This record gives sequence, structure tokens and C-alpha cells, in this order.
Amino acid sequence: MTKHTVASVDEIPEGEVMGVEVDGIEIAIVNIGGEFYGIQNVCLHRRQRLHTATQERINEEDCITEGPGVINQEECWMTCPGHDWKFDLKTGENPATGKRMRTFEVSTEDNEIQVEI
Ligand code: FES
Repeated sequence: MTKHTVASVDEIPEGEVMGVEVDGIEIAIVNIGGEFYGIQNVCLHRRQRLHTATQERINEEDCITEGPGVINQEECWMTCPGHDWKFDLKTGENPATGKRMRTFEVSTEDNEIQVEI
């Protein structure tokens, strides 16, 4: 296992997610109350990218809205923007199907976020 620096702590505020790539593996890094979690970014349902959850979008009325996909900091899960499948960020499990996404060890050091692969 090797630690890879993927972002600085300041780049991912609490309740936000960023997509990164390490050795060709797409990973969504999620900040839950100052703790960082890593989960595969490509959804096992239909391959939507989790990191687009909560991004602002322009709707038909030219208003800025939050897109689909939710991050729940109290219970440490997020939903995929594709079709709202819910994933536990600690285990990667989708409770409805029991299927699991891959999760990654994430740590911080000197204001850097590091992922172990
Ligand atoms: S692509 Fe993620 S829920 Fe469908």
C-alpha cells in the first residue's frame, strides 16, 4: 500500500466531495465533519460519478440549484446523483441491495489528503 496525495484539506469543505484519480482508479473523497472518506467514484449501478453530487446547476428558469445527490454528515452516507442509490461511506454498502462499492483508507498530513492504494 502506498499513500498518494490527492488534494489539500482546504479544497474539500465539510459536506462536500471531490473526484480524484490515482493510478487510473477514480475515487470520490468526501468530507464528513472534518473526516475524509474515500469511495469508488464510478457507481456500480450505471457508472455515474458520485463526485458530481451536490454540485450547483442551472435549471430551466436560469436559477442556480443543487443537483441530485446528497451527502448526509450525521449518518455518514451519500447518494449517487444518477438514481439516488445510497452508499455508506465507511463500508461502501448500498443498504437496499447489499452490494458494495470499494472504499479506500484516507488520512491527512500537513494539510494534505492522502489515499492509500
Ligand atoms: S448510476 Fe448511481 S444510482 Fe444509478
